[in-house]
Amino acid sequence: MKFTPLHEHFVAQLDGIDLRTPPTPEAVREVEQGMDRYGVLVIRGQPLTEEEQLAFTRCFGPLDLGFGRVKKKGGPRRLTHDELGDISNVDVDGKIAAPGSNKVVSNIANQLWHADSSFQRPRARYSMLHAVVLPSRGGETEFCDARAAYDALDDETKARLEGLEAEHFALHSRIMLGDTEYTQEQLALLPPVWWPIVQTHAGSGRKHLFIGAHARAIRDMPLAEARMLLMDLLEHATRPEFVYRHTWQVGDLVIWDNRCILHRGRSYDLSTRRELRRSTTEDVELEVAA
Ligand code: OGA
Ligand code: MN
Repeated sequence: MKFTPLHEHFVAQLDGIDLRTPPTPEAVREVEQGMDRYGVLVIRGQPLTEEEQLAFTRCFGPLDLGFGRVKKKGGPRRLTHDELGDISNVDVDGKIAAPGSNKVVSNIANQLWHADSSFQRPRARYSMLHAVVLPSRGGETEFCDARAAYDALDDETKARLEGLEAEHFALHSRIMLGDTEYTQEQLALLPPVWWPIVQTHAGSGRKHLFIGAHARAIRDMPLAEARMLLMDLLEHATRPEFVYRHTWQVGDLVIWDNRCILHRGRSYDLSTRRELRRSTTEDVELEVAA
C-alpha cells in the first residue's frame, strides 16, 4: 500500500489495494494506521457492488445505520441493502427526486458541515462513500481536519472550551431546513446525546473539536451564547487552510474518520443525477473505553 498526502494537514490517496478482495488482518491494520494519521483516504478506481462495499466496511467494525434507521424504516428503498445509505437525488422509481421532497432535503442537509451520526451513541467511526453516478459539475465533497483546527485555537479559547459539552440532535439541521414532520415514534428513536466539544482522537492521540450541524446547545450555557460559540468554532474549523475538497470520479471510495473530521457536500444542479453509496461503522472502541 502506498499513501500519498493530498493536503498539508491531512488526507492521503491510497494506492495498491483492491477493495473487492477481502483484506487480510494486516491490511486492515495498515488502512487503520493510515486513517489514524490522515483522517481521510481517497481510493480511486474501485467499481464496487453493494455487497463488496459492505464486506470491506465490515472489516472495520459493526455497521452503523445512522439516520437511515428512522426515515427509511419499512418504506421502499432503491438500494438492496438497508446498511447502505443512498446518497443520491434519485427516487425509488429511478427518477430524479422532486424539488422539496425528503430526498432533496437530505441532500441539502448533507451540504451543512457535520460528522455522520454525531447525534447518537455509539456515534460513527468511519464513513465510506462510493461514487456511482456524478453530475457534470459541482457535487464535490469537502473535509476539514478538526485536529489541525483545534491546534490553531488560541490558549484562551482552548481553556474556555475545556470541559464543555454540546448536545447533538439528529433533526436540528433538518428542522432548520424546514423538514419538521416527524412522528412521536421517529422522535423516540432519535434522543439527543451529549459529547465533549474537545476530545482526544483515539487513533492519533491528538485533541480535536467535535462540533457540526447536529450540535444545538451547550450544557449550562444560555442558548444564544451557545449557538454563537458553536457557529464561531465551526467557522474557525472550516477555514480554507483546514479544508480539502474532493472532486469525485466514478469508482472512487473515500473513507473518513467522523471522530476528528467534519465534511459537507457541495451544491450541484439537483435536476441532474448524483448517486453515491455510504457505508458507516460504529465507534464501538470508544464506547468500551468510556
Ligand atoms: C454523507 C455526506 C456528502 C456528499 O454521505 O454522509 O454527507 O457530498 N455526503 O454527498
Ligand atoms: Mn455525512
